[in-house]
Amino acid sequence: MEHQLDEIESDAHRELVAAAGDRKQIEALSQKYLGRKGIITQLLRSIASLPPEVRPNAGRRANEIKRRLTAETEAALLAAAASDRSRANRIDVSLPGRSHLCAPLHPITQISREICDIFVRMGYDIVEGPEVEKDYYNFEALNIPKNHPARDMQDTFFVSEDVVLRTHTSPLQIRTMEKQPPPVRIIAPGKVFRCDSDQTHTPMFHQVEGLLVDEGVSFGDLKGTLTAFVHQMFDEQTRLRFRPSFFPFTEPSAEVDILCVICRGSGCRVCKQTGWLEILGSGMVHPAVFENVGYDTDRFTGFAFGMGVERVAMLKYGIDDLRRFFENDLRFLGQF
Ligand code: DAH
Repeated sequence: MEHQLDEIESDAHRELVAAAGDRKQIEALSQKYLGRKGIITQLLRSIASLPPEVRPNAGRRANEIKRRLTAETEAALLAAAASDRSRANRIDVSLPGRSHLCAPLHPITQISREICDIFVRMGYDIVEGPEVEKDYYNFEALNIPKNHPARDMQDTFFVSEDVVLRTHTSPLQIRTMEKQPPPVRIIAPGKVFRCDSDQTHTPMFHQVEGLLVDEGVSFGDLKGTLTAFVHQMFDEQTRLRFRPSFFPFTEPSAEVDILCVICRGSGCRVCKQTGWLEILGSGMVHPAVFENVGYDTDRFTGFAFGMGVERVAMLKYGIDDLRRFFENDLRFLGQF
């Protein structure tokens, strides 16, 4: 009897191994050995008719084999189900691939870097500063005292009485000069904020500020530097003009216009029929600003300038609605 049991077990085991992965065949084997009329089931039934002295042993052995085979069959069924599933999930290598979106840099980032690169090649260092700024750096130290009418030029977001969202990148002039003696040659890109919103204004936009201080710096240096900048940013043929203007932190001050990129000077809607487009503000640093940072006004002079990055981008690419830059329409952004 024991010998017979061993043989049955090893037969069943061999057959199960051969049927691996085939659910139908495993189920059939399960019936063959463990089913109601299965070999093991019948064997267990026949034990009752054995002599009493061998009955317990044979019963135990038969039950052990039944337990082992049941476990083995269940495991084989699970493995077969898993391989069915993996067959269903198999990858069809003939399917066309999904294309990946390769994002270029945002046009504003590109233009901001292009502006900075031009000045870096002229020997300027890039500096950055906080977007939440003290009233002192944003206004006071730049010769714009509280209640000065020039504050009207910039609709300010106040965080508290003495803290604002910076309205321009000019505070970097003060922050830099406080930290180092002349000569200074810096360019400061960054976000600025003004409470304003229409086709040509957004509450957040970007500026690049420039400052150069040394002995013997003249308005001629300012003109030469900005002319070189415009020729590199647009092209060598781009004409520009310096128009007298006012900023509290510069004296004299000038705004720079370039010949309209759309109509080339003949007058159109974009340049409001003037033939010119304003691109930046500039001037010789006001002595009051130097005094605020402790620079010797008898020895040092300097010039500063500031421009809007979106504005430069709009002129360079002929875009008429500033808000396009912030709508994140991939069809628009993908063109740059
Ligand atoms: N900060 C000015 C603005 O936001 C721009 C500007 C004008 C900066 C003249 C300057 C400057 O450095 O000299 O409107």
